Amino acid sequence: MRTYLVTGGCGFIGSNYIHYMFRKYGDSIRIINVDALTYAGNPENLKDVEKRENYTFIKADICDKEAISAVFAQNDIDRVVHFAAESHVDRSIKDPEIFVRTNVLGTAVMLNCAKAAWELEGGGFQEDKKFLHVSTDEVYGSLEEDGGYFYETTPYAPHSPYSASKASSDMLVKAYMDTYKFPANITNCSNNYGPYQFPEKLIPLIINNALQGKKLPVYGDGRNVRDWLYVEDHAKAIDMVQEKGRLFETYNVGGHNEKQNIEIVNTIIETLQEMLAEDDPRRALVTKELITYVEDRKGHDRRYAIAPDKIRAEVGWEPETMFRDGIRLTIQWYFEHGDWMKNVTSGEYQKYYNEMYHVK
Ligand code: NAD
Ligand code: DAU
Repeated sequence: MRTYLVTGGCGFIGSNYIHYMFRKYGDSIRIINVDALTYAGNPENLKDVEKRENYTFIKADICDKEAISAVFAQNDIDRVVHFAAESHVDRSIKDPEIFVRTNVLGTAVMLNCAKAAWELEGGGFQEDKKFLHVSTDEVYGSLEEDGGYFYETTPYAPHSPYSASKASSDMLVKAYMDTYKFPANITNCSNNYGPYQFPEKLIPLIINNALQGKKLPVYGDGRNVRDWLYVEDHAKAIDMVQEKGRLFETYNVGGHNEKQNIEIVNTIIETLQEMLAEDDPRRALVTKELITYVEDRKGHDRRYAIAPDKIRAEVGWEPETMFRDGIRLTIQWYFEHGDWMKNVTSGEYQKYYNEMYHVK
C-alpha cells in the first residue's frame, strides 16, 4: 500500500487534497498528515476522515528535525506532498520572520529528512519515492495589466515576504534536484478558492462579511487581477503531476480564469442575492453599498496569470470547474457550515481583523 506523508493537511488546500485522495483511492492508500495546527490549521476540516484506519494525524512542526525524521523512521513513506507553510501575504508584510522560518527552514528540514530516509548506500535513491513541493505563482512577481503569462521559464521576481520565502523554498527544492538528483517536482499554482478556506483570504472574507452586512474591504482601486482555480482542480493536478509528470520538472497550475478583485466581490454579492431564500433575513443585508475601498496592500502585485500549457500537454490536466459553478459550490458550502465559520472567526481572528482593517 502506498504511503503518503502530507504536511499542512489541516489547512485549506491540504484538507481538500486529503478528501480528494480518499475519494479517489479509498482504502488503497495510507495518508499520514503532519501539521503543527497554527491559526490556519483546523482539525475540524478532516473530521470526516479521522476515523479511517488508513489515516493518521501527527501534530508536529516541520522545523522540528527530530519529529520529522521520526515520522520517516517509523513509516515507509512513498510520497511526500508538502503544503505546510505560512500562506497569507498580508500577515507576511506585518511579520516576515515566521514566513522565513516555516517556509524556508521547514522545507529544508522536509527535504533533508526525506533525502536521508530514501537515499541508498551506494548512491541514488530507493525506487518510486517522490517529493512534491506545493508552491505558488507569486514567485514570478507581477504581470502587466495588458498582457503576458507566467510560464515555467519565467524568471523569479517575488515582491512580498511571503512570495520571497516561497521562492527560496522552491530554490532549495531545485538545489536538491540538481545536486543530489533528489526525486521531486514543484507545482506553482494560482489563487485557489473553495470549501475550508480561512476567512483572511478574499473570497471567504467577502462571503462572511456580506452575510453579516459588514463592510467589504477592497484594496486600492480593486482592479488587481488574480487567476482563480477551484481547489479540487488543484488537488487533482497535484496527484496527476506526481503520477504522470516527469521527475525534476516544475509545472504551473492555473485555469485561464483571470478576474479583477472588484469583479469577484460583485459576483459574490450577486450570487448571494440569487442563492439566499426570499424569507432569509440576511438577504436584505447583502448589497453593493457594503463595498468599501481601503488602503492598498504594500507592494501589491498587479496581475497574475498562469499559462497551463505544459501541464496540459505533458500530464493531461485541465481545470474542470467553471468559476460560475465553483463560486456557487463555495457559497453553498459556507451556507452549510455556519458553525465552522463561527468557530474560526472567534477569538484570535477578531483581533487580527480589527488590527488589519483598522476597526475601532
Ligand atoms: P493554509 O494557511 O490554509 O494552511 C497551512 C497549513 O500548514 C495549516 O494547516 C497550518 O497549521 C500548517 N502549518 C503552518 N506552519 C506549520 C509548521 N511549521 N509545521 C507544520 N504545519 C504547519 O494554506 P493553504 O492556502 O492551504 O496553502 C497550502 C500551500 O499551498 C502553501 O504552501 C501555499 O504556499 C500553497 N499555495 C496556496 C495557494 C492558495 O491560493 N491558497 C495557491 C498556490 C499555492
Ligand atoms: O496566487 C497564489 C496565492 O494566492 C497563494 O500563494 C497565497 O497563499 C494565497 O493567499 C493567495 O494570495 P493573494 O494575496 O492573491 O490572495 P488574497 O485572498 O489575500 O487576496 C486576493 C486579492 O484580493 C489580492 O489582490 C488582494 C485583494 N484583497 C484581499 C483581501 C484579503 C482585497 O482587496 N481585500 C481583502 O480584504
